[in-house]
Amino acid sequence: MVFRGLGVNIALTIRSTPDPVTPRQYVAASLFTTYWHVATGPVCKAFIRKGSVMADTRWYDKFAPLYNVGTFGDLFYRRARQKAIDELDLSPGSTVLDIFCGTGVDFARLHQEIGIQGCILAVDGSEGMLKEAKARSGKLEIDDNCIVFLEADLSRNSGIEKIVSQIHEKQPHQVLFSLGLTCLENWQDFTSEIISAVQPGTRLAIMDVYSKRLTLGARFINWIGAADCPRTVWSALEKNCHSFQWFEFRPFKVLDVSVFVASGTKP
Ligand SMILES: C[S@@+](CC[C@H](N)C(=O)[O-])C[C@H]1O[C@@H](n2cnc3c(N)ncnc32)[C@H](O)[C@@H]1O
Repeated sequence: MVFRGLGVNIALTIRSTPDPVTPRQYVAASLFTTYWHVATGPVCKAFIRKGSVMADTRWYDKFAPLYNVGTFGDLFYRRARQKAIDELDLSPGSTVLDIFCGTGVDFARLHQEIGIQGCILAVDGSEGMLKEAKARSGKLEIDDNCIVFLEADLSRNSGIEKIVSQIHEKQPHQVLFSLGLTCLENWQDFTSEIISAVQPGTRLAIMDVYSKRLTLGARFINWIGAADCPRTVWSALEKNCHSFQWFEFRPFKVLDVSVFVASGTKP
């Protein structure tokens, strides 16, 4: 596994020749890649063998039990995540839509802000990730009345219809998109659909990865996260919302990839 990790790393380095690769970037990518292969080897093997398209929700099903370990217990995203949640202006009793909820990494903070009168509407396309999310919700002792789970493949019209119908029913006034839009092919249309479905005054926040150039680090993040770092996934928010703000974090400085938080209010 370690050798395969190093092999992939060398391939990534060679592919990224148009971009300068510093020795620090090289070492960081080597260490990350090797770690990733050790942590998620069996899943990657199954994934590579099938040759499926990245960001397929079935890939996340396989990856779900390893997600929290594979992301170092959320070490790199913690500050940005907190900022995104702060930007939502939550208050006790709020209903918040958590899109791409994954294993429920944001549940503790969201529940703390909205309390037992509030409700989290947790949406994801992967059954495996939702299973982990439900387990986390149980561990956090979040009452069943305070959380609703919805499985919806947001790359399909049927999935978008499901989430829009839940928005009309539950009328969330806060929407969080965390680390999902860079994985979604139809991110532009999807974000616009969500903005048009929510009530005026709704706060929206996006936390995701971004890199202007397809550097070695960006390729690496794309590969491990099934993402596409150079997308400006905040553009619909910037175009359609007021009070737009954009914040940059640099937890992957050595890889030259940013984590950003973008927020705005639907007029
Ligand atoms: C990188 S994880 C992020 C999880 C979580 N938001 C976090 O911050 O840790 C991306 C999530 O997006 C979900 N996802 C990817 N493609 C999707 C799709 N087409 N429809 C719905 N969810 C999708 C995956 O199942 C996964 O849980």
